[in-house]
Amino acid sequence: AESTSEKLVELAKRRGYFFQSAGAYGGVGGFYTFGPQGAALKGNVEDAWRDRFAVAEGNMEIDAPTIMPEPVFEASGHLDGFDDMLVECPDCGESHRADHVVEDNTDYEDAESLPIPEVEEVIAEYELVCPACGAGLAGQAVDSFNLMFATNIGPGDSDPGYMRPETAQGIFVEFPRLKEYARNQLPFGVTQIGRAYRNEISPRRSIIRTREFTQAELEYFIDPEEDEPDLESVEDVEVTLYPASEQHSDDGEEIRTTIGAAVDDGTIASPWVAYFLGVAKPWYEAVGVDMDRFRFRQHLPGERAHYAADCWDAESEIDGNWIEMAGFAYRSDYDLSKHAEHSGDRFTIFKQYDEPKTVERATVDPDMSYLGPEFGGDAQAVVGELEALAERDRSAFDGDTVEIELEGERHEIPVEKTGFAVEEQTEAGEHIIPHVIEPSFGVDRLVYTVLHHAYREDEVAGEERTFLELDPEVAPTFVGVFPLQNDDELEDAARDIAADLREAGLSVTYDDSGNIGRRYRRQDEVGTPFCVTVDYESIEQDEGGVTVRERDSTNQKRLAIDELPETLSAIRAG
Ligand code: GAP
Repeated sequence: AESTSEKLVELAKRRGYFFQSAGAYGGVGGFYTFGPQGAALKGNVEDAWRDRFAVAEGNMEIDAPTIMPEPVFEASGHLDGFDDMLVECPDCGESHRADHVVEDNTDYEDAESLPIPEVEEVIAEYELVCPACGAGLAGQAVDSFNLMFATNIGPGDSDPGYMRPETAQGIFVEFPRLKEYARNQLPFGVTQIGRAYRNEISPRRSIIRTREFTQAELEYFIDPEEDEPDLESVEDVEVTLYPASEQHSDDGEEIRTTIGAAVDDGTIASPWVAYFLGVAKPWYEAVGVDMDRFRFRQHLPGERAHYAADCWDAESEIDGNWIEMAGFAYRSDYDLSKHAEHSGDRFTIFKQYDEPKTVERATVDPDMSYLGPEFGGDAQAVVGELEALAERDRSAFDGDTVEIELEGERHEIPVEKTGFAVEEQTEAGEHIIPHVIEPSFGVDRLVYTVLHHAYREDEVAGEERTFLELDPEVAPTFVGVFPLQNDDELEDAARDIAADLREAGLSVTYDDSGNIGRRYRRQDEVGTPFCVTVDYESIEQDEGGVTVRERDSTNQKRLAIDELPETLSAIRAG
């Protein structure tokens, strides 16, 4: 039998949710176009995300370019570290993710964390085969493959650029400016909704793994020593957690608990990550994710991205498989430190002390008339080493000589020649590099989940029916308006009602093709919560009203025409 996913993909194409792009040219793997319904649903989900994670949290939203120059990704680690393992079939030439081939066909759960030679061994040992043609993969070399799309900025190839693989970097690189808008006060958050690009080796499952997709990300900057989230608003939120420790055990089980309890017993180590899990769960529920098919899963150590100290995913169940919809990572000061180091700009916040502090500073003032003859051209490098050592380890200057290393060689320098001294200084504050908590949502996977969890089949008047039980707040089309029959008067009246409803801010579709039953079926498949039918009674009698049919129950009610905009708008607003 067809799976719900298979049926959903067909429905999505038929009803304008999404379809593979450039079909006229045979289609391209990993690229999808959202049709009229899909674009509207995606827009509604993005608006709902913006309302919750930017507006309600008091965070700032930005819109950065999707192409950035190479130094950004050198600093972020993506140039070196954003790789997947690739194995090519010797027979049909298809490329596959080696870790997926291993995970799908063995007991290994975390193949991504294995070194390449070990993956090659597992492939040989289990005699794994090409998922496309069945040819043996044993003996094939496994390679690292960088997932970024490369391009050139301007003519020639002297300025390489990359399509951003996450929207996050567009926020991090602008930190020196963004902190000004936040008046140099931590904590503060910056959000961005936009496209990200990854040259996935094997895009799969329609819009679940694509090469161009939309992320909605929040980078929340904190002082890890001072800032704590206010957990009160989320501590009672009930969550299903699947921590790493459980995944490693043979009889691993999900834990049903509350955010507050999970922080208290250390299941979620970072209260900040816990806070955002607590904000996210009711939000997911509000946009239509089925809470019986939703959980938070902690990343296994080998699964974590190069920047993440801890990470929990929000997952939804799709045809028996769990898919990752969002990641909630504690990114520490990794990104800002790297950008500071590579760019030389200020990725710090000045943290003023409550009262000025007297601190001891170790300094050196070396005797150059000694260092010069002793070290020649390297004398300046020696000064640098001594300065760094004084800052790092004062006790190194306790004896008569101090030892430094220069290009692998050890040198002993009399302490009296270093001008080492400890001085007291008064400081008003210090420059700190903020830490980052990052809730990162994939919009496409969420749209897919919302559709999948809304997919229903039932029987109406002895006929099979398919419908999407979409929440009225996100449904792309809110109301369908039909004349009962093709009749000029009925059509005019129906068009007037459609115009009034549009004016009230509702998304309306007018339909007069096919019989009324067909029109209902069409709107059921689109997931339109209400249909309004205009008949002769509507136009012939004063206050004749119209028939309003509710999608899920198919119940019909008579409502006065002039009450329609208000009644329906109230339902839409929730
Ligand atoms: N800035 C953090 C980050 O990018 P990620 O876990 O790699 O983290 C975040 O991506 C979310 O983006 C994922 O949870 C997923 O929903 C979505 N995503 C990632 N790769 C995707 C792909 N190839 N196709 C569709 N969505 C994807």
